[in-house]
Amino acid sequence: MATLKAVRGTRDLLPPETALWNRIEQTARQVFARYNFGEIRTPIFEDTALFARGVGEETDIVSKEMYTWEDRARAQSEKAQSLTLRPENTAGVVRAYIEHQLGEGGKLQKLYYIGPQFRRERPQKGRYRQFWQIGAEAIGPPSSGSESPLRDAEVLEMLATLLDELSIAGWRLEINSVGSAADRARYNEVLRAALEPVAPKMCADCRRRAVTNPLRVLDCKVPEDQPIIETLPKIGNSLDQESKEHFAAVLAALDAAGVPYHRNARLVRGLDYYTRTTFEFTHGGLGAQNALLGGGRYDGLSEALGGPRAPGIGFAMGLDRLVLTLEAQQRALPETIYIDTPCDAYIAPLGEAQNAPALALARELRKSGLRVEIGDGTFRLKKSLEIANKLAWRIVILGEDELKSGIVTVKNFLTGLQAKVSREELSAYLKGPVGRNPA
Ligand code: HAM
Repeated sequence: MATLKAVRGTRDLLPPETALWNRIEQTARQVFARYNFGEIRTPIFEDTALFARGVGEETDIVSKEMYTWEDRARAQSEKAQSLTLRPENTAGVVRAYIEHQLGEGGKLQKLYYIGPQFRRERPQKGRYRQFWQIGAEAIGPPSSGSESPLRDAEVLEMLATLLDELSIAGWRLEINSVGSAADRARYNEVLRAALEPVAPKMCADCRRRAVTNPLRVLDCKVPEDQPIIETLPKIGNSLDQESKEHFAAVLAALDAAGVPYHRNARLVRGLDYYTRTTFEFTHGGLGAQNALLGGGRYDGLSEALGGPRAPGIGFAMGLDRLVLTLEAQQRALPETIYIDTPCDAYIAPLGEAQNAPALALARELRKSGLRVEIGDGTFRLKKSLEIANKLAWRIVILGEDELKSGIVTVKNFLTGLQAKVSREELSAYLKGPVGRNPA
């Protein structure tokens, strides 16, 4: 029988690598808390219409990459419903914002999320069909200041801080403005006209998009189309005065905060909800999939989903890509990276009769906060020593005599020294310095 494997584009994350994932998530949670973001957890699947209306029918995500199925009706009163595994989380957050009337009271909502997303893309390094995002959204009624360029700059400054605290070296922030909905509509027409004579020389997707959604032509990755795309008009020339001023204010706030950036006139992003500021943080170490994160403003998304006016800005970073970047850096910068450390102690029961007392001792020590591994009474002492030496700083030997006297033998692998320690003092002793390399 053929052995079953994880589905193409999905993968198992195993220890010790998962420790790095945890460290990234923990750092992100700490940074978000300092900027007053709270966590939101939305469902992993949603009504398909949410993404069609939110992300846009013409985007690659919605037109090609979604995992969608017809959910059968369970009762006569129910209708079959088209459901989709979320390909991204912004639409879900805005749906929840509308559903729970989070804008009432005029408050700006600052929400973050960490979770898996699903896109049927061609798998390659840094691109998976189930991948993880850490994202955040700041959204609220206009009276909450949600439209202010200061919010854009705050989110970008927070990202710079987060990447620095994760010790990601060498990130690059690319930024652009795609203007208001009206600016975009105007630009779409300018592009449509400019594309008319050149589209027949472009790829099939571009030929179709030149008619249906010209802006999406700028996302084309086909190498032969790039020289043509370079000659197309830039969106910056279609911005109205307000959008220009908004963008200038974002850049001025970034300058004031000392966050370096590069303007990229072609950065329109692959989702339809963006207005005004769009951005990506890239990293040279990632190869073809070089975007560590992407985001921008989506001032009309709530209304497109049937909600009240609620401008917002946010981002999502690819956790898989952060891990790849940190792992690549580890070779060069070992001290900045998580190292799988040994346990504080390994408890070795010397016979099967000591198994249960060993478990009780391990429980006591773990409750006191120590990281402890436990052996088995069927192991010879030599085998226990070998295993313990690989797993822990010290071995705690628990035989019949030790149990009777209440005094255990502790051997320190680093110093080679052995000590007799009473059970009452054991926890404090194990919390003390290990030796040459203090714990
Ligand atoms: P996105 O650019 O589609 O934006 O995705 C954000 C990030 O998720 C990418 O920069 C990348 O790091 C990661 N990512 C995307 N697809 C994959 C994949 N197949 N495998 C691995 N990583 C991937 C969004 O999702 C928007 N919701 C961001 C946003 C939030 N805009 C405003 N608020």
